[in-house]
Amino acid sequence: MEKPKLFSVGPVYVNEKVRNEMSRQMFSHRSNTYRELHSSLVQKLKRLMKTNNEILIFASSSSGIMEACARNLVKDHEKVLCLSCGAFGERFGEIFELNGKNVKILRKEWGKANLPDEVDKALSEDNYAVVTLIHNETSTGLMNPLKEISNVVKKHDALFVVDTVSSMGGANVDVDDYGIDVCLFGSQKCLATPPGIAIASVSENALNKAKDVKNKGFYLNFEILKKSNDKNETPVTPPIPQMFGMSKSIDLIFEEGHENVIERHKNISKFVRDRVKDIGFEIFPDENFASQTLTCVSFENFKKVYNKFDVKIMNEEMKKKGFILANGYGKIKDKTFRIGNMGNVMMDDVTEMLDNLEEVVKMFK
Ligand SMILES: Cc1ncc(COP(=O)(O)O)c(C=O)c1O
Repeated sequence: MEKPKLFSVGPVYVNEKVRNEMSRQMFSHRSNTYRELHSSLVQKLKRLMKTNNEILIFASSSSGIMEACARNLVKDHEKVLCLSCGAFGERFGEIFELNGKNVKILRKEWGKANLPDEVDKALSEDNYAVVTLIHNETSTGLMNPLKEISNVVKKHDALFVVDTVSSMGGANVDVDDYGIDVCLFGSQKCLATPPGIAIASVSENALNKAKDVKNKGFYLNFEILKKSNDKNETPVTPPIPQMFGMSKSIDLIFEEGHENVIERHKNISKFVRDRVKDIGFEIFPDENFASQTLTCVSFENFKKVYNKFDVKIMNEEMKKKGFILANGYGKIKDKTFRIGNMGNVMMDDVTEMLDNLEEVVKMFK
């Protein structure tokens, strides 16, 4: 990465090769040139997501697909179980509620994971049409045990919707093996593409369910999107530059090797956690479930010891040195900051950044 080096949690640093792809001249989205782009992106996404399900392309951010799930998958009398352990779990529940759906939010304390036994218990106690999970809770830097939860959800008769917004590309998500009915993510996190496009894989069961649900509207309607997708088109004007960018990003992932990219994210995030603990901070979430794609650092106890500590000053000093970190988010924003390692962040980048962080933090000790 060139400076300023972004350790953000999305949008993240975009590789020059991806930026170049996005500067191409435009063409009609009702042309063969477009259809070729659409079809080739869909094929690449199937490989990345490990799925044969329908891949729908949305001219929105990920929240658009979260809303699409509320519009397409739930009938009026049905219930939704939203698993939550942070800000985005809460957000998913809120989106269903704002669409008039009957929601139960199964909450864990922020920093603790949603666990399979608890999900199993909840699903045994009531009938739910849909279960939602945030795979990687970006607010707390926690990665939920997706495979284990998917094994539990499979035993019950509910559609499984998984938000992989900050994990797809940087962690293993095997959509078909895990039986995920809707798997959603956006461009600006581990795929390291500018924001403005979001992707969902949608299972046959989810598409069939959508046929029976009324008042789905137009823009986020799975049936309408699927009809266009059959012609390698989208019903509305698609974000063509983002499609070129995402396509290139996926090429780069496969050039490096998908497994290697995942391993790199794992190793770097572990390195970051160890170094920030050496500096004197703590890891906010339960480390058994620490995210591979970002680190949420708690400075609450550090500040008790070194009361001069000021996270704003720390961030400003880091910025002066050419490193941009992410603020805390939601109700923990005043006691945490976050270090993203999504996309193009390499070991050399984090090592350099952490050496500088260590120096900056000394001024408060
Ligand atoms: C886990 C998760 N879900 C959903 C969202 C919402 O994404 P967007 O703002 O791109 O719609 C975010 C954004 O950071 C996220 O981290």
